Amino acid sequence: MTASISDILLGWYDAHARDLPWRNPPDAALPDDPAWPYRVWLSEVMLQQTTVAAVKPYFAKFTATWPSVEALAAAPEDDVMAAWAGLGYYSRARNLVKCARAVAALGGFPATESELRQLPGLGDYTAAAIAAIAFGSRAVVVDANVERVVARLFAIDTPLPTARKAIRAAADTITPEARAGDFAQSMMDLGSHICTSKSPRCMLCPLREDCAGYAAGEPERLPVKPAKKAVPERRGTAFWITRNDGAEVWLVTRPATGMLGGMRALPDDGWSAQADGSGQAPLPGDWRAMGAVRHGFTHAYLTLAVMGQETVLNPPGDGQWWPTDRIEDAGLATLYLKAARLALAEV
Ligand code: ADE
Repeated sequence: MTASISDILLGWYDAHARDLPWRNPPDAALPDDPAWPYRVWLSEVMLQQTTVAAVKPYFAKFTATWPSVEALAAAPEDDVMAAWAGLGYYSRARNLVKCARAVAALGGFPATESELRQLPGLGDYTAAAIAAIAFGSRAVVVDANVERVVARLFAIDTPLPTARKAIRAAADTITPEARAGDFAQSMMDLGSHICTSKSPRCMLCPLREDCAGYAAGEPERLPVKPAKKAVPERRGTAFWITRNDGAEVWLVTRPATGMLGGMRALPDDGWSAQADGSGQAPLPGDWRAMGAVRHGFTHAYLTLAVMGQETVLNPPGDGQWWPTDRIEDAGLATLYLKAARLALAEV
């Protein structure tokens, strides 16, 4: 089985490999070009967390501007950062310059996975990918695409990240001695085109007959993702304080720092008190429950009870009376606009 998986995959790669600017054609000798490891390294750093389509123009620009690792090492860091702008994850660009300088000082890229791993910005994946692709050394190359292919092929259903050890061990069993770079890239291509996370195209997959995940049904279930963290639910109370028979409402400006900082808002209890408004009401008197609104923030949901009162008093604190018929123009954060609409519908 071991030999046959890599043979099948390499045969498939010979026919279907993507033609990418940083790639050697399938089954070709390693290029006799001193810039070859540089190009592989540069592409692999750029491809971390970034799509092939997004990387292509940056790879072209970088290799035209700095055709060798020595040229990049001599470049001012600001120029490299500026050229990287738009590609994201800017620590990669800073590490890129550091790594280029370290490599230039060494007189070229080291060829072994363990030496590559010592270079700035090179993790397990990048070191293995460069060893395999640039130098043809056998290395177990596992990125997110490969992780998915292997989890399905071996039906590894332990949830991530615990599954990583088993996935790597399984990938090791199918990695061939020869054509290490082609094998790594065939797994990546299979993962990105056939063994996709949603709706995998199993009917086109050369490994279908060997795939335990396919045999068990529902290969798209694998790898099992970690349980999503529960999004916290918060509760609070907003106060709809009116005067002149509801013609005006009391609005405040939120503190400059913190959630919705500096935004105009209804007074509230800091989203921490009881939903019945019994906590820190800004005025004494009889409060009327007007219902509640719910709002989703990035990291929490908030249910905000709305309590109303008509008053002749000036509420304490920094605020202003605002005409209720112009509430849509007050620049309220969405949460408070929802609360205001509820209160107005209630009246
Ligand atoms: N993603 C990361 N490295 C890649 C490569 N060499 N080819 C295609 N996709 C990749």
